[in-house]
Amino acid sequence: MSYNLLKGKKGIIFGALDEKSIAWKVAMRAKEEGAEFVLTNAPIAMRMGEINKLAEACNAQIIPADATSVEDLENLFDKAQEILGGKLDFVLHSIGMSPNIRKGKSYGDLNYEWFQKTLDISALSFHKVMHVAEKQDAMNEWGSVVALSYIAAQRVFPDYTDMSHAKALLESIARNYGHRFGNLKKVRVNTVSQSPTKTTAGTGVGGFDAFYDYADKMSPLGNASAESCADYCITLFSDLTRMVTMQNLMHDGGFSYMGISEDVVEMLNKQS
Ligand SMILES: NC(=O)c1ccc[n+]([C@@H]2O[C@H](COP(=O)([O-])OP(=O)(O)OC[C@H]3O[C@@H](n4cnc5c(N)ncnc54)[C@H](O)[C@@H]3O)[C@@H](O)[C@H]2O)c1
Repeated sequence: MSYNLLKGKKGIIFGALDEKSIAWKVAMRAKEEGAEFVLTNAPIAMRMGEINKLAEACNAQIIPADATSVEDLENLFDKAQEILGGKLDFVLHSIGMSPNIRKGKSYGDLNYEWFQKTLDISALSFHKVMHVAEKQDAMNEWGSVVALSYIAAQRVFPDYTDMSHAKALLESIARNYGHRFGNLKKVRVNTVSQSPTKTTAGTGVGGFDAFYDYADKMSPLGNASAESCADYCITLFSDLTRMVTMQNLMHDGGFSYMGISEDVVEMLNKQS
């Protein structure tokens, strides 16, 4: 159902790889709510060609950009404003990748060059995106910037290895840039901490099925789907959340406030 929440708003959506991607769902919902936007992803991710289907469905143009490259980002923000005919109202950063996780390195055996790549791709890129937006004065007043995080920023999930540090840094960047962008331009900056979700990035983490089921059993509302995450992001881009900034917002069906649940007790009782 459409509420026209983003009517007349313009934006950039990073990170739609395939139909399962959270960014894909956000793009579909943003379109439904009346937004106009540009889609972007790393040039290497374009090779799969899936994003073309999304671009067609949303009547959006695609501008490739490696989010770790300031030069690529400058080109992206330039072209996006040209295509959309003005400044931007929203940006979604839905980017995450750890070479250490991809290659199955454990926390005690991390490759430090890859660790730096993890931080650059998954966290510093968020700073770079806002830095370029600020330098180009690309955001409208009361604009909204959202990045996606995970509770491993606060709690220990052993298989999440260096991504847990990337998420902690990402949330810190949201607070600090939120302060700066709020003062400068009334732009709000938040992270949404999402439940485990069956996407390419999500299922790449070791033991994913187990912690997906565990989180589902622990959460009174169950795991939040990618579609419901998209709904939440839309509210954060809309004018209904103008005074929300510098926050890490839990979108997890209640998981983060649970100690133990009846379902988990029952499961453990059955095992013993
Ligand atoms: N899936 C989950 O369980 C889960 C839970 C909480 C948070 N998140 C976060 O949600 C976000 C989106 O992930 P997803 O689950 O939709 O998976 P996804 O694999 O569909 O999306 C990750 C995206 O990051 C892009 N990317 C990687 N390197 C890049 C680079 N250098 N420049 C630009 N883009 C690059 C990929 O091409 C891909 O589109 C990530 O930040 C992820 O950490 C995911």
